[in-house]
Amino acid sequence: MTLGDQETATAPKAKDLVVLKDVNKHFGPLHVLQNINLSIGRGEVIVVVGPSGSGKSTLCRTINRLETIDSGEIRIDGKVLPSEGAALAKLRADVGMVFQSFNLFAHKSVRDNVTLGPRKVRKLSAAAAKEKAEKLLDRVGVGNQADKYPAQLSGGQQQRVAIARALAMDPKVMLFDEPTSALDPEMVNEVLDVMVDLARGGMTMVVVTHEMGFARKAADRVVFMADGQIVEENDPDSFFDAPQSARAKDFLSKILHH
Ligand SMILES: Nc1ncnc2c1ncn2[C@@H]1O[C@H](COP(=O)(O)OP(=O)(O)O)[C@@H](O)[C@H]1O
Ligand SMILES: [Mg+2]
Repeated sequence: MTLGDQETATAPKAKDLVVLKDVNKHFGPLHVLQNINLSIGRGEVIVVVGPSGSGKSTLCRTINRLETIDSGEIRIDGKVLPSEGAALAKLRADVGMVFQSFNLFAHKSVRDNVTLGPRKVRKLSAAAAKEKAEKLLDRVGVGNQADKYPAQLSGGQQQRVAIARALAMDPKVMLFDEPTSALDPEMVNEVLDVMVDLARGGMTMVVVTHEMGFARKAADRVVFMADGQIVEENDPDSFFDAPQSARAKDFLSKILHH
């Protein structure tokens, strides 16, 4: 085999940004993640759906190491997630996360919420962090709210600040765990629109959501989980229009017929 052949042989792997291989996790007797294998390509948008308790949040939390795993391996951009220390902090900074509850620092202004990470972790100057924050706040449509405190903003605005805060770290991948579930219905679309823009801009994303409009518009692949397993994965139209497994059919009939 020539060197050129080897490069060709390894090329498909290099495009995978996040790779979970045989990942298992237990909470006591509960086998919450069962032999999870999932590769997420650079720029790919994955939507994760499944019944409550199926392990979707735990899956997200293992990817940025908020949860440890019992066996298997998680790689981000080729590097195995370290278990602790400075190497973990560095890799974790590459993974942005947006939660259902907006998790902003209540006692800091919107601007300071966004500048904090870049200053502390990325060592940006105050001026550079401020400029970056203002650009990102503009991008998510809350540029005129920078001096306010989180409690003075609507839920939809707070969640968009949370997205700007995560983006300020220049993450390689963004994880969203039911980012619109806590929002009043009229604010859901303003957050989804920002996420669609992000997806179209080439961000690698893992999104736990039951918003099928978003999935159809933005997802490259839908992953369906049940009882700690990936039961089915497909492109969004095939998944929603023609689910294969009994579990997926049952799940979709419940979320569609309401
Ligand atoms: N820290 C924890 N300790 C014990 N059990 C947990 C913990 N976190 C989640 N679980 C359990 O693991 C299962 C999967 O939870 P989760 O990943 O939150 O599911 P989903 O996000 O799909 O609703 C649930 O049965 C939940 O009760
Ligand atoms: Mg969850």
